[in-house]
Amino acid sequence: MENSRRSFLQKFGTLSVSPLALSTLPDTEWDQLLSYLNRQKQRSNQDIARDEAYWREVAKAYRVSPDFINLENGYYSMAAWPVLEAQWQHIQRVNQIPSYYMRNYQWDERNAVTAALAEFAGCTVEEMVVCRNTTEALDTVILGLDLDEGDEAIMSNQDYGSMLAAFNQRARRDKIVNRVISLPLHPKSDEEIVDCFEKAITPRTKVMHVTHLINITGQVLPVRKICDMAHSYGVEVICDSAHALGHLDFKIRDLDCDYWGTSLHKWVGAPLGSGILFVKKEKIAQVWPLLGDDGFPEDDIRKFQHFGTLPVTGHISIMDALKFQDTIGIGRKQARLRYLKQYWTEQLKDKPGIIINTPWEEERSSGIANVGVENLSPKELADRLMKDYKIFTVAIDNEAVKGIRVTPHLYTSLNELDQLVTALTEISKT
Ligand SMILES: Cc1ncc(COP(=O)(O)O)c(C=O)c1O
Repeated sequence: MENSRRSFLQKFGTLSVSPLALSTLPDTEWDQLLSYLNRQKQRSNQDIARDEAYWREVAKAYRVSPDFINLENGYYSMAAWPVLEAQWQHIQRVNQIPSYYMRNYQWDERNAVTAALAEFAGCTVEEMVVCRNTTEALDTVILGLDLDEGDEAIMSNQDYGSMLAAFNQRARRDKIVNRVISLPLHPKSDEEIVDCFEKAITPRTKVMHVTHLINITGQVLPVRKICDMAHSYGVEVICDSAHALGHLDFKIRDLDCDYWGTSLHKWVGAPLGSGILFVKKEKIAQVWPLLGDDGFPEDDIRKFQHFGTLPVTGHISIMDALKFQDTIGIGRKQARLRYLKQYWTEQLKDKPGIIINTPWEEERSSGIANVGVENLSPKELADRLMKDYKIFTVAIDNEAVKGIRVTPHLYTSLNELDQLVTALTEISKT
């Protein structure tokens, strides 16, 4: 994997300004940070995950508000400062030659970003387009599949609301039938999860919607096993990886799902309004684009990128986000984020009145976790944390999960998590 990342940087490094030239950190400081990170590349992910000195260096690339402790990095994650600086340079560059840029250069640069993303995400450029976010990606599929009256779709009550809303619209408009399943918060095995989906299959089931990393709890589902099971019944799988890319170390091809979407403004650290729609090559022809297109053949993925004029500078900056991420490496990000989650949840798990709504096992975990306090609503808990302790989280009041979602970032320190543990312990006693 390291080799392929290097080849991507060598291949595309000249298309965009190097992060070295972009930071507002003084050149020498940024230079030192990069050479420090490079010197650590031989160390194991597990070793790095626990090395606070290393993460203090990484944190220098983020401009974090001193006003509160931000443990809500799930909605969208702060981009590193060099990425923002790069974006600003792109805005100025494009603005200087606006239409000339759009007519002459835009596609070369956007195609280069697509190629780099395809390599990072693990698919071909013939199977993906850059779009604005997961909602746009997956709703395109949900609304674009040919489903007839009585056809069935399976989804879970822990799936994201926008996707459930799109399925509900199809139920109202086309009379499809949605089967909404419940998933355990603490599954004992992958098979238990696969069974939940399998039991909902009937002869009319056409498609299944699976969230890779559940945003409200942080639980990671065994997507490949679910896909294998679904395919054995001839059922297609739409995978919501909004929180997974840039957070977990995986490739789309290893999941073997049919349709897939992500948001790059979450864990890849790209500017707001950037995402990916992936459609397996042989499935492209059967999905209608959301926005009409007659410029490309039915089986050409580019029919999905007929968006009109976009803030293209944000999309070009995805390249800079990938480069910045590569200075750390996805294996390290995954290991660090899991370590942070383990660090604070372990301290709370046996405390009376505290309920952890996230699995313990490493393979089912991510950096996100959900915690509740008995006799306190999620909103009351989130409000008290912010008001009394200046700790920002988000209340999750879903029929399946009640608690606050805690989402650290790479710049989060153990000291901040200690403050969270103290706060929750105190609140649970009152
Ligand atoms: C699991 C999941 N899916 C989809 C989305 C939608 O992402 P976006 O608003 O970027 O489209 C989110 C957003 O938080 C999410 O958590």
